[in-house]
Amino acid sequence: MERPRTTTRQLKVANVSHDYGPVQVLRNISFSFTGGVSVAITGPSGSGKSTLLHIVGTLERPSSGRVEINNTDPFMLSEPELAQYRNSVIGFVFQEHHLLPQYSVLENVLVPTFAFKQQPNATERARELLRRVGLTHRLSHRPGELSGGERQRVAIARALINQPDILLCDEPTGNLDTATAETIADLLFELHDVEQYMLMVVTHNLELASRFQQHLQLVDGTCSLNTNS
Ligand SMILES: Nc1ncnc2c1ncn2[C@@H]1O[C@H](COP(=O)(O)OP(=O)(O)OP(=O)(O)O)[C@@H](O)[C@H]1O
Ligand SMILES: [Mg+2]
Repeated sequence: MERPRTTTRQLKVANVSHDYGPVQVLRNISFSFTGGVSVAITGPSGSGKSTLLHIVGTLERPSSGRVEINNTDPFMLSEPELAQYRNSVIGFVFQEHHLLPQYSVLENVLVPTFAFKQQPNATERARELLRRVGLTHRLSHRPGELSGGERQRVAIARALINQPDILLCDEPTGNLDTATAETIADLLFELHDVEQYMLMVVTHNLELASRFQQHLQLVDGTCSLNTNS
């Protein structure tokens, strides 16, 4: 499970534009982050937040512009290399948990490790992550036997199993009631303090956005960046 880690996490988005046919979604977006910074992304529905997260997460190639992660352009890799790269460098948490219903909680967290051959400590780390998200008593449950908040905790543990440099969350609390959403947000910050990944979270909640070090606002496909005090 241990892999050589870059000492400094780095993300650079330079002059990225993206369109879906005639629909221009992102226009010449540029920003750059280093280290374990936390970034909130807000903006009206349709402003391109998910599109931007998909591009940063290497799931979608931008129509133009450049993305650099740890000083390399991931889109230069072949598709299989890119898939492996994504699996080791990026963690994703979506609004929908996307857990595999036939697998247990512990197995779901281990799924991203299956792509790597030698991971003697994977189960240990999965158990440790599940302890940290408060699910030690649910290891053998199936996702269908969990509450919404519990399922999102599993999704967070799964996203962190390969020790990503960047954790990307797209409205991770969007499907949860207010109290549960708050505990999940607290958990993301707690884990961030320990694991020191770069954290980028799309949210419609401006109060939540104010808890991040940086706040990226998207409007009409362009972005502005503010540092929260
Ligand atoms: N695969 C696609 N094909 C065509 N158009 C798309 C595609 N994905 C997104 N779009 C369009 O691009 C625009 C931006 O979508 P995106 O999902 O990034 O917005 P968003 O800011 O995440 O919105 P929301 O807050 O509703 O999730 C929207 O107008 C959407 O209809
Ligand atoms: Mg979205």
